[in-house]
Amino acid sequence: MHSDDTICYCFHVSKRKIINYIRVHRPRRASQVADCGGAGTGCGWCIPFIKKYFGQFEAGTLQPAEPGTLGQGPDQHEPTSAEEYAAQRAKYIREGHGRPAPGAIPLPPAD
Ligand code: FES
Repeated sequence: MHSDDTICYCFHVSKRKIINYIRVHRPRRASQVADCGGAGTGCGWCIPFIKKYFGQFEAGTLQPAEPGTLGQGPDQHEPTSAEEYAAQRAKYIREGHGRPAPGAIPLPPAD
């Protein structure tokens, strides 16, 4: 995945926006990243990724939002592309783990 790929499908927030928000606003808790366009306040799918970026920020290892891999969330295997990320989110939603926010990017068709 690249920095312009979407991380929060519920509120259309890119990886670049989230990383830049953390670097500029220096939140004290991961939950404060929700102030970045509502990221993480819909279905909840993206929260592990937001927490990962926040953890990297706290550890001083958060890299600028350059093209690269998305990395691995705490409870999810590592998506290698935006399509895989979207498919994993769709599975998460269809299994009843979260409800997309109104206006969220639609789920891809089920297989
Ligand atoms: S994808 Fe971020 S809250 Fe649903």
